[in-house]
Amino acid sequence: MVNKIKGQLFSGRFDELIARQKSNCDFEIGEILIAEDSDKKFFLQVYDLQYGSQISQQNLELISGMILEENSSTEFIDSNIRNYKIALLKPLITISKESNSSLSKSLPSPFTYLREITADDMTFISKPENSLFIGNLRSGSKELDVPIYLDAKNVLTHHVLITGTTGKGKSVLMKNILWELTGRIGLLVLDPHDEYYGRNNIGLKDSSSGKVVYYTSKNVPVGARSLKINITILRPSHFDCLGFSDAQEQAMNAYYREYGNKWIESIIIDKPLNYVKFNDATVNVLKRRLMYLLDLEFYDSRLFCNGIFDMSAGESTIEHICNDLENSKTVIIDTSNFSGQIELLIGSLIATEIFNKYKNYKMKGINDKPIVNIVLEEAPRVLGKDVLDKGGNVFSSIAREGRKFNVGLIAITQLPSLIPREILANINTKIILGTEMLLERQAIIESASQDISSDSRTIAALDKGECIISSNFSKFAIPIKVPFFDERVSKSLKKDDFKINFPGLN
Ligand SMILES: Nc1ncnc2c1ncn2[C@@H]1O[C@H](COP(=O)(O)OP(=O)(O)O)[C@@H](O)[C@H]1O
Ligand SMILES: [Mg+2]
Repeated sequence: MVNKIKGQLFSGRFDELIARQKSNCDFEIGEILIAEDSDKKFFLQVYDLQYGSQISQQNLELISGMILEENSSTEFIDSNIRNYKIALLKPLITISKESNSSLSKSLPSPFTYLREITADDMTFISKPENSLFIGNLRSGSKELDVPIYLDAKNVLTHHVLITGTTGKGKSVLMKNILWELTGRIGLLVLDPHDEYYGRNNIGLKDSSSGKVVYYTSKNVPVGARSLKINITILRPSHFDCLGFSDAQEQAMNAYYREYGNKWIESIIIDKPLNYVKFNDATVNVLKRRLMYLLDLEFYDSRLFCNGIFDMSAGESTIEHICNDLENSKTVIIDTSNFSGQIELLIGSLIATEIFNKYKNYKMKGINDKPIVNIVLEEAPRVLGKDVLDKGGNVFSSIAREGRKFNVGLIAITQLPSLIPREILANINTKIILGTEMLLERQAIIESASQDISSDSRTIAALDKGECIISSNFSKFAIPIKVPFFDERVSKSLKKDDFKINFPGLN
């Protein structure tokens, strides 16, 4: 097949090559075009489009006026030659004839033709041994039959950020990733929209791995577990990201020192502190906040638990969850009917426990444990500047040093600008979905692993499921189309059914 020529380079400089579009071919923002020299293949990407003309601006305006106002035709111009479209392109990567890929450092010769990219051009991309499939390569809005894989271990231990405006496909992407990874690593998913398990539609429950555990507190479906957590497991440090004041935190610590794991009960039933004194008002506010947060009630000199926190049940819930994670299970916790604060409390409880365990393993030289990743929706709630200004928490510790212990974060947000730069820099893979807000695009562009400063417009124009991956573990920022999860999985489920009904057929 002859590859279609779509344009020709004629001017520009290294990061701003200028090409003319052939009249009957449409260039698209984000499109990848190939410029081939005698010994090199340059992959170039369109980042801006303009009109070009041989006719002066004044005359163009005149012609436009004649067409608009007088309905006269413009036949006197050979329009394809004299009026055209121009694209600005940036180099992505260069491949030598021996198929060695490298970052571009030179320019293609002037007047090199630009042709469409095809799957054959991408044979230099290999599939890593421990791979994570994200989607197919995308050139503008066109999807190519080239699956893109990342190196799972590196990417997952060095944290992932998924950003994009609401509705652009963050959750669909996350479902795909969970589907890919289930059974291979430990995954803790705090699910405030109860969308990943798929109670009523397709979701992780349909995985045949037998490695999905689902905790919920409402209408527990068959096979799922009811979430109860014993109150004695809570420690003052678990409340780090919940915005308690310094005085309240000091009071919690004082109660913990004096009453051990009965500290919450002691605060609520007004037990005295014998060694330190706190202002009555401080302790009263703390007491009310804890009762409200944990859904506790106190009457007839007795403490009653109404919510998921319990005095008697749930002593080993956290332990079970950690064991599941260490056995490469995907633990989904439906937090849809909790307040955001409770969700964070549960998250920080489990994260602290598993992180400490993994630190311990490292100290003891145990290194056969699977990677554990924690999936956080609306990540600025725990990684936001305003939260971290008041002090760190377990999630910021994991962002900073989790890689050493094989514990990673997958942070999802539509507002990356709220996350401090230093944390963003520690997140080495960013999956960028469509983002209209300039401020958010800037935050992402500034912290990306590649120079994607000219992609701002491209990012604003990304459609649902279209993304760009910028990662320390990829050579260039890769444009990708994420598969639509429901379709992908229902297809693979049908295939499995077929195999069961007709054994021997593949
Ligand atoms: N990869 C995709 N392919 C096709 N459609 C998609 C894709 N991702 C998302 N969509 C569509 O967009 C809708 C919103 O996606 P969702 O993942 O819930 O967005 P977000 O979590 O970013 O708010 C989905 O219900 C689906 O209809
Ligand atoms: Mg979502």
